[in-house]
Amino acid sequence: MGRIPEETIQEIRNRVDIVELVSSYLPLKRSGGNHQGLCPFHQEKTPSFNVNEPRQIFHCFGCGVGGNVFSFLMRMEGLSFPEAVKRLGERVGIEVEETPDSPAEVRRREAYEQLLKINDTACAFYHNTLLEAPAGAPARRYLRQRGYEGETVRAFRLGFAPERWEALAEHLKAKGFSASDVRNAGLVREGQQGRGDYDLFRNRLLFPISDLQERVVAFGGRVLDDSLPKYINSPETPVYQKSRTLYGLCQARDAMRHSREVLVVEGYFDLLALSRAGFGNVVATCGTALTADHARILKRYVDKVLLVFDEDAAGRQASFRAMDALLPEGLATRMVSLPAGADPDSLIQDQGADSFREAVAAAKPVLEVFMEDQLARNDDSVEGRARAAEEVLGRLRRLPSDLEKDLYIKQLAGRTGLAEDLLRDRRRAVVSSRAPRVQVQQSRRSGPLSPEGRLQRYLLRLMLADAGVRQRVKEAGTSVLFLDEEYRGAGDHLLKLQRPDGCLPENLVDTTQDETLQALLASLLLEEDQAWADDAGQIFDDCRRAVARGQLKMRLKELDSLEESARCNGDDEALHRCLRERTEINLKIKKSP
Ligand code: CTP
Ligand code: MN
Repeated sequence: MGRIPEETIQEIRNRVDIVELVSSYLPLKRSGGNHQGLCPFHQEKTPSFNVNEPRQIFHCFGCGVGGNVFSFLMRMEGLSFPEAVKRLGERVGIEVEETPDSPAEVRRREAYEQLLKINDTACAFYHNTLLEAPAGAPARRYLRQRGYEGETVRAFRLGFAPERWEALAEHLKAKGFSASDVRNAGLVREGQQGRGDYDLFRNRLLFPISDLQERVVAFGGRVLDDSLPKYINSPETPVYQKSRTLYGLCQARDAMRHSREVLVVEGYFDLLALSRAGFGNVVATCGTALTADHARILKRYVDKVLLVFDEDAAGRQASFRAMDALLPEGLATRMVSLPAGADPDSLIQDQGADSFREAVAAAKPVLEVFMEDQLARNDDSVEGRARAAEEVLGRLRRLPSDLEKDLYIKQLAGRTGLAEDLLRDRRRAVVSSRAPRVQVQQSRRSGPLSPEGRLQRYLLRLMLADAGVRQRVKEAGTSVLFLDEEYRGAGDHLLKLQRPDGCLPENLVDTTQDETLQALLASLLLEEDQAWADDAGQIFDDCRRAVARGQLKMRLKELDSLEESARCNGDDEALHRCLRERTEINLKIKKSP
């Protein structure tokens, strides 16, 4: 993509009305100065989704998302920023012309478009072959045998590659694609010794894999019998990166958004089987590990992930690796356990959809399974249990929620017979030896605000309203006034935006593309009209104190682990230093009001 000129973006923003845009997705009701509706990004019964017409922003007080017209569409349709700009441009009749790219950039983009075209053409070819060509008969029979009808074939654009060496190569050539472009798409291989290029997929049932804009980027192909390899897949290309692609994501999007949950399965057929049985919120990893990129994509739609991997050692390991990717995103992750040897497809086939539903209802938190697994791996001696505990504690640090960490520590103590306090100390030691020194509290969305959080929000709101306050913040420095990184970032952002005349630009939410910052600004702007205490001096002092206290508390935590290691090393001198410092700090904290 080239760069879209700022004026064009501005013009589109001016012409699109956010109330109208949002109304095309969900009903809104006027309520005071705002419009309200049920949030499309999480499930709720009473509306906490607010749209503010004068400011052209939205914010959900339930789940914390917020932003402008572009971010709304990006979230709703899974688009990138330039794509959202274009889509809205079309809506209001403004053509988006990108400033010309360098020749290399142009070539890259053309090649990219060409890859998509080739995949799309191939998909149509394979799909038609499966639906109606005589050559597709074996595949039709195979699918019928497994119980699949035309409906599934159409919904997933399934295809069949006939049993010929050059079926696709010839078809694409006839459509005018160059041999080298087609090779780059990975669908044909270069012929040897003067022979023509030959197809990658022959005599295979094909599953087209799409990106979020429903464009085909790759294929997976299954044999119709027991021959090997059972599956082959398109190679990675500029349009297809395995670590960012999930099979079935497009089709699952709405169902995921509504249930806020997703089932992650391993295979193509598992996905088809579940979809046919009425589970719409399913994606498949298709032979690759679930990555952090996958986790971030899923996070846009769901809060909870149910892993349905094979019930064997490899499947468990895959689940635990997936856990490492999912937990840091704050996604509640559970493991669905199926009878040994079964996969969702075979289970539903043999025992019906209800048995799968029961398995899902009985899913266990992945950390719990991990804990059991570690305990089973290590022997029952104190050392063995301690080793298992260390492994679990290492994972706990990935949980963003302190509450959850606490619950697991309790559980871990119960299971290992090790003292809770000891585990708690070990966790801190693990945390402070690996995490950055100055730890910041993340303000989690939707959770109740801490007193410090409220205070910092007050200060930000004062900054929005009052140039004098901004000046004072600038002089004092945001690092002594904001305890949390998120709020401090917002404070820095406002200072940076301040124009020479001391004013802030009008469309604040439009000044950033950082989702979290956008949401925070939107929520501050929507609250601003309410009455609130405005004793700036008091708030300044309170914020300053909160930061100072926060830093002392951080140091106390560090002392915990320093003391422990001093004790282990028998370093009495260091231990005394630590204890002295601890006493001093506790005194300071007590003295500060
Ligand atoms: N897979 C792959 N390459 C292989 C084998 C498997 O990419 N050689 C991927 C496929 O995405 C497959 C998934 O791993 O769907 C799970 O493999 P498997 O359990 O063997 O197949 P199923 O999906 O169960 O297919 P079927 O029910 O047709 O046997
Ligand atoms: Mn299977």
